Amino acid sequence: MLDQMTRHGELSAYYDLAPSVELAERMQDIYARMERVITPPDWAIHAPYVAAINQLKKQRNAVILAHNYMTPQIYHGIADFVGDSLQLAVKATEVEADVIVQCGVHFMAETSKLLNPAKTVLIPDMEAGCSLAESITPEGIAEMRAKYPGAPVVTYVNTSAAVKAASDICCTSSNAAQIVAAMDSPTVIMTPDKYLAQNVARQVPGKRIVWWEGSCIVHEQYTAQDLRDFREWNPDTRIIAHPECPPDVVAEADYSGSTSGIIDYVHREQPRQAMLVTECSMASNISDELPGVDFVGPCNMCPYMKKITLEKVLWSLHAMHGAVEVDREVAAKARVAVERMIDLSRKAAA
Ligand code: 13P
Ligand code: SF4
Repeated sequence: MLDQMTRHGELSAYYDLAPSVELAERMQDIYARMERVITPPDWAIHAPYVAAINQLKKQRNAVILAHNYMTPQIYHGIADFVGDSLQLAVKATEVEADVIVQCGVHFMAETSKLLNPAKTVLIPDMEAGCSLAESITPEGIAEMRAKYPGAPVVTYVNTSAAVKAASDICCTSSNAAQIVAAMDSPTVIMTPDKYLAQNVARQVPGKRIVWWEGSCIVHEQYTAQDLRDFREWNPDTRIIAHPECPPDVVAEADYSGSTSGIIDYVHREQPRQAMLVTECSMASNISDELPGVDFVGPCNMCPYMKKITLEKVLWSLHAMHGAVEVDREVAAKARVAVERMIDLSRKAAA
């Protein structure tokens, strides 16, 4: 990828990207969704990018699928659809546009591509990885199969297409327990997130769950003691944790669920104070729609998700840069694992 200066120089030849108070005011309807978390001077910086991207999306017949961890200016400014990993994968099967820009991490773009091989799927930064995806290879899956012969492999979507292709079925944080419970085997292998596996083991006590030793660098930083201390100082705070957190952390929380599960919970419960034990953008993105909720406590930033910026999105659409490709044979096998998960989730929800 071009360095930031060169990229900015090239883009400035085509689009007026100078901060503009006037444009920011004209785009007040978009800004209204993030006023609590983005200052007016920052909005004047973002607005020209948001305007240019929204215009270019139409010219390219593109849609932007954005994960809940994107910054507010992406989440509210340019996304056509926002959601958790499962919702984004399902949405990818329904897209009619020619181009999908995946505002998220690489495995999400790969999932969109293998579900839509004929479409162009762009990721604005190829280096937007994931510590979980990096922790396992197809050889790791083979190792687990050799250790636990006959046990099905349930692989988290936070993995490469090659790892999905070597697995029996995928899962996400919103359906992991359902998928594991549906496996016709007393022992189930879960890869690569050891903490998700341990959390699922508590929800599905009838199964023996064995796991790969991967973890998320964002969620593993929380400790149960942090949460206990926080609750002692702020006894009225509702604590809500993502299931990638260690099980003793999840045990301290009032609720645990996928990123969209967390958003739905806060909407439903409308607590006076909420601590979201997950990535920082989660609270920022829902802050304006929940003015009665005070989001408190520490959060952790995902350095991979934060590689996606407005300028990189504009560049990827402008230059059609960052097309994701998946080997045809790998894609065919990985698609089976993802589609099995989507089918099972749909059946469970029906
Ligand atoms: P969700 O499926 O809950 O959105 O999680 C994705 C992720 O990467 C969380 O760290
Ligand atoms: Fe991966 Fe964790 Fe970042 Fe999610 S938050 S993308 S699991 S590193």
